[in-house]
Amino acid sequence: MKPTNPTDLVLKMLEQQPRGKKGTLKHVVKTAIAQKKTILAQTKKHPTPFYLLDHAELKKSAKTFKNAFDTYLPSHQPYFAIKSNYHPHILKTAVEQGYGLDASSEREFTLALEAKPKKIIFTGPGKSEKELELALKYAKITTINMDSFGELERLGALAKKQKTTIRAGIRFFSSHHGTWSKFGIPLDELAKFWEEAKKYPYIKLEGLHFHISLNLHAEKYIDVLRDLSNYLAKKFPKKYLNEIKFIDIGGGYYPDNAEGFYPWSDHYPWTLSGGNFMKKAHDFFGEHIAFPDKYYITRADTPKQLAQKIGTFIKKNFTMINAEYYTEPGRILCNSSTSIVAKIADIKDNVIILDGGINMSGWEFGQHFYFPIINLTRPSLTEKHFKIYGPLCTPRDFWGYYIYSEKPKTGDLIVIPNQGAYKFTLAQEFIRPIPPTYIIR
Ligand SMILES: Cc1ncc(COP(=O)(O)O)c(C=O)c1O
Repeated sequence: MKPTNPTDLVLKMLEQQPRGKKGTLKHVVKTAIAQKKTILAQTKKHPTPFYLLDHAELKKSAKTFKNAFDTYLPSHQPYFAIKSNYHPHILKTAVEQGYGLDASSEREFTLALEAKPKKIIFTGPGKSEKELELALKYAKITTINMDSFGELERLGALAKKQKTTIRAGIRFFSSHHGTWSKFGIPLDELAKFWEEAKKYPYIKLEGLHFHISLNLHAEKYIDVLRDLSNYLAKKFPKKYLNEIKFIDIGGGYYPDNAEGFYPWSDHYPWTLSGGNFMKKAHDFFGEHIAFPDKYYITRADTPKQLAQKIGTFIKKNFTMINAEYYTEPGRILCNSSTSIVAKIADIKDNVIILDGGINMSGWEFGQHFYFPIINLTRPSLTEKHFKIYGPLCTPRDFWGYYIYSEKPKTGDLIVIPNQGAYKFTLAQEFIRPIPPTYIIR
């Protein structure tokens, strides 16, 4: 039973074990070392730091995801989530690989248009009037996922004024959504929403949408789909079932075996552990804490495993409708495409300062997440314990605690692979500018 008193709650938390696998990411290190010549060639042409975007790797991830979901989901259409990386080359490649684009703001919608997609999904809470007008202007290629009853009213009025019909879906949340219930309406209100939408003849309501981020396994999607299928079978008006033309299951597919996390990380759902309390307590009392494991590796279902499990569930449980199925993958497409390339700017005892930092990654991910940092000038398959910082005037500008390296020296070339998702988009002009991206083919 869940304790109610605060001390017992904290004690219970301390008993939680991190939900991670022990292991290493040496395969990432070996791949990076094998690319040494290519990366060195770029550093001869361009000063560090920079993002290095590998076109072939991006194309491979886009193909792998689409092939898997095309195989197992009925009438599947993927939309690349721009928020994970808006670089024009990434958007263009996604479109070339048969993806639509998933935009969440006027800015992303405008970037999407530049990549000339066949279709755009426009999703997000609190859309402005200008954003609704933009969707209406491009109604021929746009499906808008509405977020609320209020948005239905606003979009309905604007569409009527402009005499423009627009295809739409409604986003919902279920009991499995947790903090993601910021978005959409409760599942139980779908019937009411459908009825209400009848008042707006210019809105062609045809779909249902949900999204939860950071999913390691297919079960997260299946839990929501189970609630949805029960609701549609038992509570949704039968007369409207044939109007449901698409179900958009969102993004959130996590890359397998590409990164890890420290025992004290509490940043993502699967990293919540007593370790965080332990670290805080020891930091507070100024003591050193030694955890039994250095870090854990994040393991997730592969795209094929995800698609197979989700597709099997859909085929069995959604026979009451005849719909297309949309996905909105972000991270899983672009994460492995981009590395951060930097140099060691200075070394002091066990402190290494690189020439690029959170101006390239936005947040101090390195405090919570483990990703291999590799010295290409003096490579090694063994890690050394150093504190690796960026060059900004804040202690939060931090990359990690370990480096694959022989004895490092100032000027050594460093590569950090798997930095393509939510780093370039979160990068900030804090103290230093955001460095450029170079593309290798
Ligand atoms: C609505 C929506 N779709 C798709 C995504 C992409 O998620 P991911 O990059 O984890 O696949 C997000 C991310 O937050 C989102 O909010």
